[in-house]
Amino acid sequence: MDVFPESLHYELLAEVGEGSFGKVYKAREIGEKRRLLAVKKFNFRWVSEEAGIPPFMIREVALLRKVGYFNHPNIVKLLDASAVSVGLGLDLTLVLEYIDQDLSTFLSKAPACGLSRDLAKDVMQQLLRGLDFLHTNLILHRDLKPENILVSNRGEIKIADFGLARIQTFNVALTPGVMTLWYRAPEVLLNVVYMSSVDMWSAGCIFAELFLLRPLFKGYTEVQQLQQIFELIGLPSEEDWPRESPILYSESLGPRSSCTKLLPNLGQDENDLLSHCLLFNPGRRISAAKALTHPFFVKHLRFQLNEEPKLL
Ligand SMILES: Nc1ncnc2c1ncn2[C@@H]1O[C@H](COP(=O)(O)OP(=O)(O)O)[C@@H](O)[C@H]1O
Ligand SMILES: [Mg+2]
Repeated sequence: MDVFPESLHYELLAEVGEGSFGKVYKAREIGEKRRLLAVKKFNFRWVSEEAGIPPFMIREVALLRKVGYFNHPNIVKLLDASAVSVGLGLDLTLVLEYIDQDLSTFLSKAPACGLSRDLAKDVMQQLLRGLDFLHTNLILHRDLKPENILVSNRGEIKIADFGLARIQTFNVALTPGVMTLWYRAPEVLLNVVYMSSVDMWSAGCIFAELFLLRPLFKGYTEVQQLQQIFELIGLPSEEDWPRESPILYSESLGPRSSCTKLLPNLGQDENDLLSHCLLFNPGRRISAAKALTHPFFVKHLRFQLNEEPKLL
């Protein structure tokens, strides 16, 4: 399967990341442009009577390619995709624009007091713009975390590692316990139906991490993760608890009352935005589009507009 008209030629320079399903390499394009590239190689092996590429995988790669056409500044650009059937498996290669570092590395170099309000605002605004674009195109990320968000040396934020969520889910069944729970929405932990609001939960966790410089929740089991969440936002009422969840409602999961200010060291606007991202009920959780109009982002804009007449 070759979904791009011309294949790119490149030489691999170094390994930059090792995920659960393959490796990511830094590479240089051969030819005139000599651009830096990121080459992501997956090896999928499964035991099946039918060799070849499963249709859902073809759809997922086609989706990535479609998203690439729009050239959104906050989505990492896919330049090439190819897949080769190998026996009872598949080697899938994605070639992406190379971005200098991920948000996790970026935060590890930040001053101990966390990012400034202005920088956090800029990072969050770009992240939400990317998410709004994905959700408008009916794409869920489902595994948003600092390692999957790239930061260019020019300060551009680009969402990476999306779209293949279904391929990953397919493989997780084969390799249990490999994905982090820390950024997962309660409905995912409770194993019930979910929608784009799962990404807004993760965005909330990341927003808090920009100031804390450590993950907001760090559970190592689903129940532990839920306990940490309810410790902060309060245990929901039994009526709000999804009946179809295999995890049963229990008073022991957390206190009924939430903290009035989720992060006491932060201002009113930051806490308000965070609390709207961290709503237990996914239907009430703020959308990316709505979050972009939150006072945390627009107050400053109004201030600028008010300033304008004085400048004239
Ligand atoms: N386009 C890119 N440019 C530079 N580094 C990248 C790029 N894409 C991914 N990486 C690095 O490789 C790591 C793994 O890539 P990712 O796409 O998240 O794959 P995985 O499915 O293995 O998590 C990322 O956390 C990031 O550090
Ligand atoms: Mg990743």
